[in-house]
Amino acid sequence: MSATVAVVDHPLVAHKLSLIRDKTTPSVQFRQLLREISLLLGYEVLRDLQTELRDIETPLGPMRAPFLKGKKLVFVPVLRAGLGFVDGLLELVPSARVGHVGLYREPDTLTAIEYYFKMPDDLSERLVIVCDPMLATGNSAIAAVARLKETGAREIKLLCLLAAPEGIKAFHEAHPDVVIVTAAIDSHLNEHGYIVPGLGDAGDRLFGTK
Ligand code: URA
Repeated sequence: MSATVAVVDHPLVAHKLSLIRDKTTPSVQFRQLLREISLLLGYEVLRDLQTELRDIETPLGPMRAPFLKGKKLVFVPVLRAGLGFVDGLLELVPSARVGHVGLYREPDTLTAIEYYFKMPDDLSERLVIVCDPMLATGNSAIAAVARLKETGAREIKLLCLLAAPEGIKAFHEAHPDVVIVTAAIDSHLNEHGYIVPGLGDAGDRLFGTK
């Protein structure tokens, strides 16, 4: 299967992304903007959801109207920064489940170490949306998706805010079947594995820990 990256280049996304990148944007606004962006990116990442026609009556008469077919969904934030996407996505699909993957980057090697993994039982029947806002080296997203596949997931998409070319390449070498949806592709990674120009540490900016 060919590897795909969908960049959501809508002016509303671009505007909110510029605000979120600005280093003077405080956590409270950062959180609000990330929630708003997740609604807009959610629109793209869920665009293949199937609908079915049902009979309804509008005030002017009967019609066959499309409704979501009832595909089961699970949103999987990669802790911590992925949590910033969850509230917005749940507003779009309130019945979705939420699984959590806890991974941290080992500072010297930048490899992803898992410390938490909790999913609904029926992963193989669900569309899994992995939420990892910063696709930098790709190590955490690669590890999260590998673990999800081992646990039975068959249909997975990766939702990011920013992606580095290095992360996209590594991710698609490991998981060519998983579509990436992102708001932008940035220039490169610095020597510490941060996305440039990026927005800094998404978890710290979201939770005000630095
Ligand atoms: N994680 C972040 O939060 N920011 C980066 O730039 C890279 C990884």
